[in-house]
Amino acid sequence: MADAKIIDGKAFAEGLRSRVAEQVKELKASHHLTPGLAVVLVGQDPASQIYVRSKTKLTEEVGMKSVQHTLPVDTSQKELLTLIDGLNSDPEIHGILVQLPLPKQIDPQAVLGKIDPAKDVDGFHVINAGKLATGAPGLVPCTPLGCLMLIKDVLGKDLSGMQALVIGRSNIVGKPMAQLLLAESCTVTVAHSRTRDLAAEAQRADIIVAAVGVPELVKKDWVKPGATVIDVGMNRVPNPDDPNGKARLCGDVDFEGVKQVAGAITPVPGGVGPMTIACLLQNTVTAACALNDIEVPEV
Ligand code: GUN
Repeated sequence: MADAKIIDGKAFAEGLRSRVAEQVKELKASHHLTPGLAVVLVGQDPASQIYVRSKTKLTEEVGMKSVQHTLPVDTSQKELLTLIDGLNSDPEIHGILVQLPLPKQIDPQAVLGKIDPAKDVDGFHVINAGKLATGAPGLVPCTPLGCLMLIKDVLGKDLSGMQALVIGRSNIVGKPMAQLLLAESCTVTVAHSRTRDLAAEAQRADIIVAAVGVPELVKKDWVKPGATVIDVGMNRVPNPDDPNGKARLCGDVDFEGVKQVAGAITPVPGGVGPMTIACLLQNTVTAACALNDIEVPEV
């Protein structure tokens, strides 16, 4: 059997960002509306700093207003909630993202719950989670939204009746991914650390989304020939082959093995990763339009 199609998330995300840029141009021209995104970073977690920098850069690149708030690691919960209050009532801000994880003195649920659900471009507020679960329009978490776009690009728009396995049950990826696939009429299984026979669950799946953070967990003999495999994992593992001892980045899927049997597979890096920020920008346009009673422009 031929090797799997390698899904080029980087190229897909570039295309999506250029469509968002066109939408922004149209909103400025026809409605004098510039979508604005505020990103809040508390502390100096190196991975978070990299994410936030790239969110800010790409927000500017599509022509939106970008505001970044960087707060010290010892910021109190009250101070953060006050900042969010201000962003909630700022008419130039349509999207608010508080980078996770937060320092231990801050309860993430209290913070996520404070964000106006209409500006919750991460889709993490319980109102948006509830809308997704009940089929009402709302803001959808960016990573699962990006995964669904890639899946539909490979398999076409109609996923009904397909067996989908989501590995991982986080609020950020696993649960919303399962809801999105269910809304597409897939038969969805959500597996997690207590699942008894993960290999057997995987072998039945037409679509596998792996989001557990276990390096190269999904093996070649777990995957049904022709299945679509989406790897959300971003794991750094020791690399004895590297002369400088630099860690290697790998996903939750054994890419080299699984690509020999899958129909399509996302690489790490260059698969799901770039889709997250592109979907964040799309969500910001969606939020800006909804807040101003404007239809999202078709481009
Ligand atoms: N940290 C890791 N992923 C995410 C994300 O999608 N949104 C936020 N706010 N923080 C994150």
